[in-house]
Amino acid sequence: MRKVLVLNGPNLDKLGTREPDVYGSLTLTDIQAKCTEFGEANGLDVDFRQSNDEAVIIGWLHEAAETATPIVFNPAAFTHYSVAIRDAAAMCSAPIIEVHLSNPIKREEFRHTSLISGLAYGTISGFGANSYLLALRAMLEL
Ligand code: DQA
Repeated sequence: MRKVLVLNGPNLDKLGTREPDVYGSLTLTDIQAKCTEFGEANGLDVDFRQSNDEAVIIGWLHEAAETATPIVFNPAAFTHYSVAIRDAAAMCSAPIIEVHLSNPIKREEFRHTSLISGLAYGTISGFGANSYLLALRAMLEL
C-alpha cells in the first residue's frame, strides 16, 4: 500500500478548542480519523503525526526524504518563518502538498508569506478539515 505522511505543526493539537471560529470545532483526532478512513477506502497507508517541536518535524522530513515518502503538510505557524523546516522540505523528492484549515491569505499580513509553498506540488487552504481530504485525493492522482 502506498504510504503518505500527514504532518502537522504547532498548536494543531489544540484544534477543537483553539479559535473554533477560525479553525472549526473538529479536533485533530477527528481529522486523523477522517484521513485514516479516506486512506482505507482508497488504498493509502496514512501515517498521521503532530508536533509542537520544530526539531521533531525536521526529523520527520529527513525520514520522508530518505524514504521518498509523499507528505500532506500543515506546518502551521512554521509555514511563515521556519527556514529550517523549508530547508528540510527541500530535501524531499516525493511530492509535498501544503494544507491549511484556514485561508492564510485572507488573514493577517504575516500569514501571507509561506516558505513552504515554493517547494510544494500545490497548496490547499481554507476548506477546514476537508483541506486534508482534498490533498489526499490529489495525492492519489500524482
Ligand atoms: C494554519 C494557518 C497558520 O497561519 C497558523 O499559524 C496555524 C494553522 C491553518 O491550518 O490554517 O497554526 O496552518
